[in-house]
Amino acid sequence: MEESQLEAIASQLSCPQGVAGIETGHKMNLLNAFITARTLEKLAASPGETIIEIGPGNGALSEAMLNTLGTEGSYYGIELSEDMANAAQQRLSKNQCNVEIMNCDCHHADIPAKSADGIMAVNLLYFIQDLDALFKQLKTWMKPGARVVFGVRSDKSLNSLPFVHYKFNVRTADEIVEIMSSNGFNDVDYSYHDEGEVMLGDMPLLVDSVIIHGRI
Ligand SMILES: C[S@@+](CC[C@H](N)C(=O)[O-])C[C@H]1O[C@@H](n2cnc3c(N)ncnc32)[C@H](O)[C@@H]1O
Repeated sequence: MEESQLEAIASQLSCPQGVAGIETGHKMNLLNAFITARTLEKLAASPGETIIEIGPGNGALSEAMLNTLGTEGSYYGIELSEDMANAAQQRLSKNQCNVEIMNCDCHHADIPAKSADGIMAVNLLYFIQDLDALFKQLKTWMKPGARVVFGVRSDKSLNSLPFVHYKFNVRTADEIVEIMSSNGFNDVDYSYHDEGEVMLGDMPLLVDSVIIHGRI
């Protein structure tokens, strides 16, 4: 595959746009079902809670969790891509819980202070340059005792992707844990899940899931 094609894949993963972006959204739902399920398991949302998700893509993988939140619960989805935000809005706004989809960079999201019981993000941290700044911001949104869960691919898995040199910030789980802990998150730890081989189009990829969690 040519470098320009690899760069285009990385670009679509970091912010899916246009027809190719919509298609990328559908592919991500297949590729990322496992890592999202493990992230949701760890988050363990319950009825009536307020949950923030950063980078939900088209929202398909979050739908079941919104059902759990119920009529008293609230979901904020913060999504940089206009096309993904529109798709998530269309899909999730029918849900019985209170849904607000924000089409913006998470660094600029206007979320009420101390409102969240839980925050989750799957396959997002690679696209964030300054994790310190992100974690400081997340803490302002969290209620005391609230939890945060990040689903990421391991550095080994990421480094095997032919397009990782574009757009991606590759970090080890230990590095992320260290930055969370130094920002005052408690009980920070992670679990590792090997997924084996998956296909991205006709490209075979060896993937795994690292589920990193903590609380304040
Ligand atoms: C690789 S996709 C993952 C989508 C979904 N969570 C999944 O795992 O299938 C990353 C998503 O995060 C969004 N994103 C990237 N940077 C963001 C930022 N700074 N703020 C909000 N969303 C962002 C992208 O637009 C994209 O939809």
